[in-house]
Amino acid sequence: MKSSDIRTAAVLGAGTMGHGIAHVLASIGVETRLFDVAPSAVEKGLTSVRSNLEKGVAKGKVATVDRDAALAKLSGTTQLDEAVRGAQIVIEAVPEKLELKQSIFRDLGSKCCSRPTRARCRSPRSPKSRAIQSASSACTFSTPCTS
Ligand SMILES: NC(=O)c1ccc[n+]([C@@H]2O[C@H](COP(=O)([O-])OP(=O)(O)OC[C@H]3O[C@@H](n4cnc5c(N)ncnc54)[C@H](O)[C@@H]3O)[C@@H](O)[C@H]2O)c1
Repeated sequence: MKSSDIRTAAVLGAGTMGHGIAHVLASIGVETRLFDVAPSAVEKGLTSVRSNLEKGVAKGKVATVDRDAALAKLSGTTQLDEAVRGAQIVIEAVPEKLELKQSIFRDLGSKCCSRPTRARCRSPRSPKSRAIQSASSACTFSTPCTS
């Protein structure tokens, strides 16, 4: 799949990394669902994206029309099914816990149509971090998820 084929994305975990990733995706026109198990984290993540876009506008780096377009592409949810439905890419940004990441990828395997491909986002430093990396980051789906 080419990156230009990606129209819809889910970001799992709305913390430091998740809201930033969602910001970038929405800013390039990808319909982005920001998912978290904690409703307060979803709200905080969405608020941070809004606030960062506003800062961009205030500094003259983001046009108001681009801010509005990005916000129109972004939504938040605490429902995993809703987040991944129709997504061509799912990016996880949950805490660095091996069992948690493995359980998320197991869940995704049952909810999404095609086999996940895993991608690394940084260099592994230890056997544990290598294990986490192999269970983490992003999976792309050649067929949009339908669940
Ligand atoms: N923060 C960084 O600078 C940085 C840099 C590189 C890589 N990372 C990696 O990115 C990942 C996320 O880090 P972060 O700093 O954004 O963490 P964070 O603690 O800021 O955010 C994690 C979010 O995941 C949510 N969460 C917990 N369980 C979940 C689940 N089952 N499903 C969905 N959401 C869940 C939490 O509620 C929280 O909002 C980690 O693996 C971390 O090692 C972080």
